[in-house]
Amino acid sequence: MTTIDIHFVQGLTLAERAALVTGADFWYTAQVPGVERVMFADGPAGIRKPNNAQDTMGLTESEPAVAFPSAALLASSFDEDLLHRYGQQLGAAAAAKQVSVLLGPEVNLKRNPLAGRNFEYLSEDPLVTGRLGTAFVKGVQSAGVGIALKHFAVTNRESHRYTVSSNVDERALRELYLAQFEKIVKTARPAAIMCAYNRLNGVPMSENQRLLTGILRDEWGFTGMVMSDWGAVVDHVTALKAGLDLEMPGKGAQSVAEIVQAVKAGRLDEMALNRAALRVLQVMHDWARPAQTPTVDFAAKHQFARELAAQSMVLLQNWDEELPLDQPAESIAVIGELAAHPHFMGRGSSQVNPTHVVTPLAAMPKQATYAQGYRLDQTTADPTLVDEAVALAKRSDHVVIFAGYPDGYESEGLDHDDINLPDNQNELIAQLAAIHNHVTVVLQNGAAITMPWAGDVTAILESYLAGEAVGEATWDVLTGAVNPSGKLAESFPVYLGDNPATLFFNADAEKEDYREGIFVGYRYYDTKELEVRFPFGHGMSYTDFAYDDLQVEELADTVKVTATVRNIGDRAGKEVVQLYVVNEASRVAMPAHELRGFEKVSLAPGEATTVTFELDRRAFSWYNAANKQWQADNGHYEIQVGSSSRDIRLQAPLELTLGQTRQPVITADSYLDDIEASADPVVQIAFEQSGLKAAVQPLLDNPATVKIMENLPLRVLVTAGVDDAIVQKFLNLVLCG
Ligand code: BGC
Repeated sequence: MTTIDIHFVQGLTLAERAALVTGADFWYTAQVPGVERVMFADGPAGIRKPNNAQDTMGLTESEPAVAFPSAALLASSFDEDLLHRYGQQLGAAAAAKQVSVLLGPEVNLKRNPLAGRNFEYLSEDPLVTGRLGTAFVKGVQSAGVGIALKHFAVTNRESHRYTVSSNVDERALRELYLAQFEKIVKTARPAAIMCAYNRLNGVPMSENQRLLTGILRDEWGFTGMVMSDWGAVVDHVTALKAGLDLEMPGKGAQSVAEIVQAVKAGRLDEMALNRAALRVLQVMHDWARPAQTPTVDFAAKHQFARELAAQSMVLLQNWDEELPLDQPAESIAVIGELAAHPHFMGRGSSQVNPTHVVTPLAAMPKQATYAQGYRLDQTTADPTLVDEAVALAKRSDHVVIFAGYPDGYESEGLDHDDINLPDNQNELIAQLAAIHNHVTVVLQNGAAITMPWAGDVTAILESYLAGEAVGEATWDVLTGAVNPSGKLAESFPVYLGDNPATLFFNADAEKEDYREGIFVGYRYYDTKELEVRFPFGHGMSYTDFAYDDLQVEELADTVKVTATVRNIGDRAGKEVVQLYVVNEASRVAMPAHELRGFEKVSLAPGEATTVTFELDRRAFSWYNAANKQWQADNGHYEIQVGSSSRDIRLQAPLELTLGQTRQPVITADSYLDDIEASADPVVQIAFEQSGLKAAVQPLLDNPATVKIMENLPLRVLVTAGVDDAIVQKFLNLVLCG
């Protein structure tokens, strides 16, 4: 067996090494004597092995594969075990198609609902993305298929995606846009990472040495292969120097010649080429496909797709316990063309050729009757269809209207101009709500939409893009065969303009300014105390849960939090218990609270369980760009445990001591609270001995002057009537030690 090491690489010709760092074609690596080529394929939502090897945009058909729910729905499960099992199934499906490395998952954040690829992304929150992404990657790789984690990094829009610069400050970069990559790289060890198309603060990602080498390898310890997104490389030689290993797709002989020449002319260090070639070879070797191809049981995978979707759908609203529709005798009007032609996957590289689509219409219960209601190829109402739908609704006990975007609307390669459903759908929902008291809306969309009718309908089920078992899974939830347990992994604003990034989104063709900084999603809405349509973490069940007995205890290196959750309804159900940290200790801008833990629990009626969270130092940290460090400040925090970011059931204070205490250096520019915070006994003695303490105390004790005093640096205390000689005496005593 061939041993892959630097000696093996050095034994290859220059042309062979140059060939290794560029793809042989769209989907394969080159090969060299002793190491077979390997194949890449897209597949975050099912395997997309193109029939036509040159097809990257999914415009032609690919080989049949089970279409699983897209990431936006999967993330709503908040269920690591489910994501791990999904990864295993997907890995097995990839292996069966002789795929060595799967391109995905996409772990970019849902920053703004206009972004075209939101349906492929997991969440607006890096913890949710990082933990679920880890489970996904581990699952796939446990099935013997490697992962190329993408898109590294800060890819949040499609417009001008090959050239746009994402301009983001260091703190937001570290705390939000890189945090989930960091988590997955460190804990799941993906085979590869795919660098994005966009620039980051002006530097193309494929040439971004700081990210590809400095942060990814040197800081996080990544040892895998860095490959480019398809067409992301601007200059191959510069990219290799920066830390890229493999350019995809290959440009063939031209690319090989370019690299050979660069080495010969001294523009590319041979060591850099060898290093990249070694990493490519390592992936080819480690993830080589066995000659024996396993077979795939499509029917079993379809059933799993159904389970995944049903376990992830989010019950957003359920007044008067409208759902579940579990009375067989009652008549149901099923309205909307999306019941017949569901929007169950997005377009672009994650699109698959499904094996067996079961529509909501095909899966509806016997007592249901269908009316089209609106046309997906139009946005204006069709009076005949509306009349039919209204008439059917009037003679039915319940109305279930399927609403969402037409197939093809959500895609890679484009962004949106608004987040409204087509007018004909919004109008029909409003009309039905006006004449009927039992209206359920089932939504098929990849990201937040506006719902002007939300206050008028009885129930709302968010089914996102549910995959090929959309019909069965939707009815599983509507009829109560499955008790919903999904939670929103993104906030739904009332208006698009409520999202802070809307101000800058696609405003400029060349750059995207992330001026909202760390205030993304609920970090913004909850800090701003802005009304949202549905908050982050929200999702209902057909049972209820009671929260009790919150305990918070600081241990040597962690904070241990426990809470009891009890199912107080009469059905078995699952709850996603969420832990948020409120930071009142740090002297920098902070979101109102941040998700630092979540656990999904399954409880029989009456059953209770104790949920335990172990919070490490990082859970209390913010990124201090000035000294390039994560910083956990000692001081006052609050621990919140609840059912959504806006439904906090338990809270307890915490005085953190495992972090660092502020050590102010006293100068003439210091403030009185710096003196108070100083642990240096010299400072405290000087404060007393200089007479400064006695001079300022009356002003601090006076409610009329205390706030003003807090804002005066020592050198300006004279304006408050403090003798400057006393201040100077204090400073001299401090300086002389
Ligand atoms: C997409 C990637 C995808 C690649 C290969 C690119 O256009 O951005 O996500 O993996 O094509 O299909």
